[in-house]
Amino acid sequence: MERKKVKELLSGPVIGEEVLVKGWVRTRRGNKNISFIALNDGSTINNIQVVADMSRFDESQLRDITTGACIAVTGILVESQGQGQNVEINANSIELYGKCDQETYPLQKKGHSMEFLREHAHLRFRTNTFSAVFRIRHAMAFAIHKYFNDKGFFYLHTPIITGSDAEGAGEMFRVTTLEPGNPPRNEQGEIDYTRDFFGKPTNLTVSGQLEGELGALALGEIYTFGPTFRAENSNTPRHLAEFWMIEPEMAFYDLKDNMDLAEDFLKYLIRYALDNCSDDLKFLNSMIDKGLLERLNFVVSNEFVRLTYTEAVGILTSASRKWEFPVGWGRDLQAEHERYLVEEHFKRPVILINYPKEIKAFYMKQNDDGKTVKAMDVLFPGIGEIIGGSQREEDYGKLMNRIQELGLPEKDLWWYLETRKFGTAPHSGFGLGFERMILFMTGMSNIRDVIPFPRTPRNAEF
Ligand code: 4AD
Ligand code: MG
Repeated sequence: MERKKVKELLSGPVIGEEVLVKGWVRTRRGNKNISFIALNDGSTINNIQVVADMSRFDESQLRDITTGACIAVTGILVESQGQGQNVEINANSIELYGKCDQETYPLQKKGHSMEFLREHAHLRFRTNTFSAVFRIRHAMAFAIHKYFNDKGFFYLHTPIITGSDAEGAGEMFRVTTLEPGNPPRNEQGEIDYTRDFFGKPTNLTVSGQLEGELGALALGEIYTFGPTFRAENSNTPRHLAEFWMIEPEMAFYDLKDNMDLAEDFLKYLIRYALDNCSDDLKFLNSMIDKGLLERLNFVVSNEFVRLTYTEAVGILTSASRKWEFPVGWGRDLQAEHERYLVEEHFKRPVILINYPKEIKAFYMKQNDDGKTVKAMDVLFPGIGEIIGGSQREEDYGKLMNRIQELGLPEKDLWWYLETRKFGTAPHSGFGLGFERMILFMTGMSNIRDVIPFPRTPRNAEF
């Protein structure tokens, strides 16, 4: 018999049919006449109830069917007499695939802390919360590809190992096959990277943007969606050392087009989740964050505020509030400032543009004022910065000046610079932090809980 998934049985049940289901036992209760097993196979947050008439099964067979055990059940699908479900399975036979020792199974009791579950990340998929989060994460990945494919963007695979530091921030993980204790050295006594695997120093990518631009300046509109690595020592609920980023890059888009795309894209993703993940969202709304659904609906149905960095600094300096980090023109905004603008001042998502050039990356298009660049950050309630992007400097001379001012290694960027010599074009793009998006979509409060196996300073377990 072909196995049916629980989701299928609950959504379009064929009453009276014999079915086969396989899954993990959530709970078993009952008495000496009858046993009720709540079975979950991961296809949905909902369990199917299996009813075992004890006259057909003996006690010893049922004894091992405990929380966490894995079983296969065949039986007849019937309308349920009990509360809380429409259908249930009257079991004819039960096969035990895997026992689950109740003395040592870590997830027996409900109400474990998030920290405890993180230490048991190999098992936390078994909980309602984490299975909901990872189903939503999947749906969002799928929706991202659908959104861009439907708009005619091409998915471009940019390298994971690279010699460039796209953001110029120097927060890179080195990739090398040299022996740490005894690397080859040149005459000056420095490590001789010409003898390393790639013949030069390399690192894990901090962003696919620079290579993405190369693609956009021929294919028109591209996007990347891949893992990104940052060796910043940030122990916060918003930072990972390994995270996933979506980076669209578009020829002939100016900053306004870029903002319009970012807003439309984010709203599309939220709407997609509301339409396709309603059971999981309802669960998270009741168990994790009571304001979740209201917030999601609010964001899709309201326009984002758009203002300049200079205007934002004005608002922050006149706010009657003690800041932990000082506010002033030229200083970078901290999470507390971003969240004040979004959560208290405007009470909706904000797109901030035209930041001082000193606090943004070298590739951003310079404004005529000589002080600011065409940067844009999208700030979200509960999250702060969810997207960072800009219009790019397409003028060879201006880009070169900036690279020299900042002392960046111009010879490593020869390929990037050539696109500005050979048919340069105005273009723009942005990066969405996938996990920050999933945080917003699920109402979870720590970024370590929306990626299956988080990598953070001093932690690379699993
Ligand atoms: O603002 P960032 O650094 O921008 C870039 O990397 C550009 N190259 C993007 C582009 O224009 N193509 O990063 C983009 C987004 C941030 O807004 C944030 O959501 C996320 O990536 N992000 C992180 N997410 C988790 N952990 C970290 N350590 C992150 N650093 C950035
Ligand atoms: Mg940023």
